[in-house]
Amino acid sequence: MLDGYHILTLTHRNATLETIGKLVVEDGASPLLNGLKDRFDWEEMLYLATCNRVVFLFYSRQDVAENIAYELVSNIRPDLSAGEIETIGGQMRLLHGADAVRHWLEVAASMDSLVIGEREIIRQLREAYDRNHEAGLTGDHLRLLMRFTIETAKEIYSRTAIGQKAVSVVALAFAAMQNTAADRNSRILLVGAGQTNTLFAKFLAKSGYKNITVFNRTLKNAQTLAAALQGRAMPLDALQHYSEGFDCLVVCTGATQAVVTTDMYQHLLQGSTSKKVVVDLSVPNNVDKRIVSDFPVQFIEIEGLKTIAGENLAHREKERQKAEAIITERLNTFRGQWHERQVERALSHIPDEVRAVKEKAIYQVYSKQFAKLDPQAQSLVLEMMGYMEKKCVAIPIKTMKGMAKRE
Ligand SMILES: NC(=O)c1ccc[n+]([C@@H]2O[C@H](COP(=O)([O-])OP(=O)(O)OC[C@H]3O[C@@H](n4cnc5c(N)ncnc54)[C@H](OP(=O)(O)O)[C@@H]3O)[C@@H](O)[C@H]2O)c1
Repeated sequence: MLDGYHILTLTHRNATLETIGKLVVEDGASPLLNGLKDRFDWEEMLYLATCNRVVFLFYSRQDVAENIAYELVSNIRPDLSAGEIETIGGQMRLLHGADAVRHWLEVAASMDSLVIGEREIIRQLREAYDRNHEAGLTGDHLRLLMRFTIETAKEIYSRTAIGQKAVSVVALAFAAMQNTAADRNSRILLVGAGQTNTLFAKFLAKSGYKNITVFNRTLKNAQTLAAALQGRAMPLDALQHYSEGFDCLVVCTGATQAVVTTDMYQHLLQGSTSKKVVVDLSVPNNVDKRIVSDFPVQFIEIEGLKTIAGENLAHREKERQKAEAIITERLNTFRGQWHERQVERALSHIPDEVRAVKEKAIYQVYSKQFAKLDPQAQSLVLEMMGYMEKKCVAIPIKTMKGMAKRE
């Protein structure tokens, strides 16, 4: 059965992100993880940290002490006070057997995430597995579960709409801009080179936009972003004199007043009267609101996008039930696969033993008689013995697999 699988986890459901951060083990801290595995006598383990959880997935056939969470926290963070260890340990969840496997599948399908349906988790899971595998922490049980988990997550993404409809403000803003400015030669002015515009720029680059100019207070940061886009970089001061025209203006800085004024906008237009796309993801807005009323623009800002994000998230939530049903169905499949694998492992010595019996018969017990046969008869004997060998190997494996299925 799946009794050997266990999960000890701290997630956004029970703890703040700051608390979760306290259990994050640095990259390359495999001696610490190996130490945990030895200390708790786990056969295998996998450690995963994402922005909204820390998970210790492990395989152990021994009973797991109910207070293991406290011991784990004090091992990872011996510097914390007894009170803090008590609090964090109390916020952790301990799951066993099929419940643990189910939870792991839900994590992979992003059903337990802060933002449901984020496919990014599959990449994080794969990378975590590779790191843990390289560190010698995983074995056959987790390899089997991991392969099954990725398959299940992909199936859920393809059979449900859990990952469909964008929910991030930047993705939604980009999609709205793209609807109007579909031409990849559109002249795009990016104002600001912080995190948000960098993310927006990734969408631009991925979609093949090639005419981009980045303006930023610190020219160096504009240059870094422009280099990634094969675009041009300019200091923010140059925006007011810019005379090459534009189709889309994407503004997002940390300024608390308008960075693009009406006069500046009038100049940027260079006499053009066509409708422009203006994206302003800053809070508060960095584009003077009079631009929206005085000029023909499609204005995209956070307030309007928040409603769409909420609707899209609700749509994803509705898909959760379908995903749960797939997991229930897949959990049964995994039980079967796990049993088959155990049978394979338990009987892995049989082919070698049967072959040894065959070779002993031919080359020792009946060697004299065999040698007297003509080549044609020898070849027939070898063929028959080969056939017997194959069939004999299959009998116990088939029997055990049949028994496992009936259990
Ligand atoms: N991070 C998010 O998830 C997110 C999502 C939606 C909206 N927002 C909003 O987007 C805006 C920018 O956030 P961010 O996360 O991208 O910030 P960030 O990474 O800190 O970058 C800030 C950017 O604004 C520039 N800047 C800061 N103060 C300025 C000023 N007084 N005048 C001109 N430029 C200035 C910075 O230029 P330097 O390079 O010279 O420092 C930098 O390019 C904020 O209003 C934020 O509320 C953020």
